[in-house]
Order: sequence, then structure tokens, then C-alpha cells
Amino acid sequence: TIELEKAFASAMKSIARRADLKTHIEQTPALYSLLNRAAARYVTGESRSDGLAAQQRLMDKGYAVSLEYIGENTTNLQDCEDAQAELSHLISDLSTRNKAARVSFDLSHIGLLLDHELTYRHLIALAEQAKHANIELFISMEESAKTDDILAIYKRAARNYSHIGITLQAQLNRTEQDLIDLSSGTSRIRLVKGAYQEPESISIARSSILNERYLRLIEQAVEQGHLLSIATHDESIIDEVVRRGWIQSSAVEFEMLYGIRPDLSCKLNAAGHPVRIYLTYGQEWYLYLCHRIAEYPPNLFQAVLDMSAA
Ligand code: FDA
Repeated sequence: TIELEKAFASAMKSIARRADLKTHIEQTPALYSLLNRAAARYVTGESRSDGLAAQQRLMDKGYAVSLEYIGENTTNLQDCEDAQAELSHLISDLSTRNKAARVSFDLSHIGLLLDHELTYRHLIALAEQAKHANIELFISMEESAKTDDILAIYKRAARNYSHIGITLQAQLNRTEQDLIDLSSGTSRIRLVKGAYQEPESISIARSSILNERYLRLIEQAVEQGHLLSIATHDESIIDEVVRRGWIQSSAVEFEMLYGIRPDLSCKLNAAGHPVRIYLTYGQEWYLYLCHRIAEYPPNLFQAVLDMSAA
């Protein structure tokens, strides 16, 4: 079953990256509108104002929010500059609100595949702007080939900007050591299981062993005094975190993706636990939809149901 799931996930991710398919969808209004309907479960809309409106709705209900402008693996300079400009506009719009969302992004959206110095400069410019607006920035973690570069850029920036956080993936064998390496500062950390298919030599697949490792990493991060987002929809892990009393610390919160297990986030919020919802917006919603189906194949059926709903 694991092999089948891997094959399905990798097929979905290849589909997500095919520029010709994306163009075909954009040029076929009926298809575009169907897929857009399926994506609406996970993506707030195409524009910044869609993300900001959803942020307000959720904050009114007592949730904290992260906002991502969708995009990754940008390979031309103009697209990187455009992504950087959009994130800067987002920070600027958020700065006018009393309670702002956290801004999340992939370093490969703002230049990682082109030039590390450019990426660093982009990150610092955003960090400087966000610092004055009292807004937190969070860097997502991408596939393992990029982990060293992402961590190096993060650590360099975090020396001067403590309001930048980093995402770590429990599925990677290296993560325990990466967390130890971050112990000198009180970094902001988001712990996820990991969304990428990685070789068995460096990672472990979804399993009770991965769940045990995830819990050990939470314990380690709490002991190291980090601000921690426990970013999972796995109810068994969430129950265990509540049972062990970790969530009572003001430094720890749950974080969940918009549209995934809203029943669970609602239950945790109603019980008074700190819950952050991760919102996305942007024209690359098709990519994001494919990622959500890849990581949880039953979402394909959900997408068909969403498309057929009037
Ligand atoms: P797991 O995959 O074991 O799922 C547990 C249960 O959750 C499932 O049985 C199902 O009930 C539900 N579930 C999970 N995914 C679902 C889905 N797509 N649709 C419906 N139900 C689903 N990854 C990464 O590599 N780099 C990153 O930067 C981030 N960033 C990030 C931020 C936030 C806030 C979250 C919540 C997640 C990420 N991820 C990520 C994704 C993460 O690595 C992981 O792929 C997903 O969270 C799914 O894994 P779970 O921990 O939920 O467990």
C-alpha cells in the first residue's frame, strides 16, 4: 500500500508541475471552473483580498492565522521579484490590522533556485518590513535536496531577526540533529511530518514509528524553549500533546491547513486550545490542490464531489 501511495503522490506532483496542463486548464473555461471549485475547499481565492477576508473571518472566531501566497520553484528573475513584491504588499496590508497573521512562504518562491544571495536579500527586506509592523515571518521546508540551503539562509537571517521561524520535517532522519543545532537561540519552529517523497535511506514513511519520533521532537523543542507550532491533523498526536500538558505552555500552539479536518480545529478551539489556521491564496491554486490530493488520496473523491456540487 505504501508503494501504491508513493506512486500516486509522485504522479499527482508531476501533474502539478506540468506547465502544458496548467495552460490547457487556463484556456478551457469549463475545466478551469470545475477545478477551481475543488480547490476552493483548500485555497481562499486568487487574490490577496480573498486571503485577508478569510483571515478576518477566522480571527473573529478566535483562531490565529498564517497566510501563504502560493508558489514555489520559481526559475526566472521577474517571477521571483513579483513574488517578493506580493509578499511585501501582504505585509503592508497586514500592518494596518490590530492582530496580524503570520506570513509564510517558500524560499524557492523568492529566488532559491536562482541565487542564494538574492534569496537572502529578499528575505532580509521582508524581515525588516515585517519587524516594524510586528509581523512574524515563517519559512516553509521543501524537499531534502534543499534542506541545507534553506537552513543556512534561515540561520544567517535569524541572527538579526528573531521574528523569523523555520519549518522542520519529522520524517527526515536529520531533524533531531537540526533541532539540536538550533538550540542556541529560542527559534520559532513549526514541526510537520513532511509532504515530500524522500528516499528510505534518509527518512521514514507515515507510521507509528514516525508518530513516536514526532512526539519526541515536540518534547525536545519544548525542552529547548522554542516557540512551537505543532502542525498536524493527526488526532492521535494531538490527543497525546493535550494529555502530556504541552499545549498549556503559552509557547505552543496547534496549526492546521485551511479546509483539512475543520471539525478537529473547531473542537480544539472550542476547548480553549490555541489553534492557528494556515490559509493560502494565489493564482497557483492548481498546484496547491494537487499537493493536497497527493498527500491524502481520498481527497481525489472529495474533489470530484466538490466539482459536481452545484
Ligand atoms: P498524516 O498525513 O499522517 O494524516 C493524519 C490524518 O490527518 C489523516 O488520517 C487524515 O485524517 C488527515 N489528513 C492529513 N492530510 C490530509 C489532507 N490533505 N486532506 C484531508 N485530510 C488529511 N510539509 C512540508 O514538507 N513542508 C512545509 O513547510 C509544510 N508546511 C505545513 C504547514 C502547516 C500549517 C501544516 C499543517 C502542514 C504543513 N506541511 C508541510 C504538510 C505536512 O508535512 C503534512 O504533509 C500534512 O500536514 C499531512 O500530515 P499530517 O501531519 O496531518 O499527518
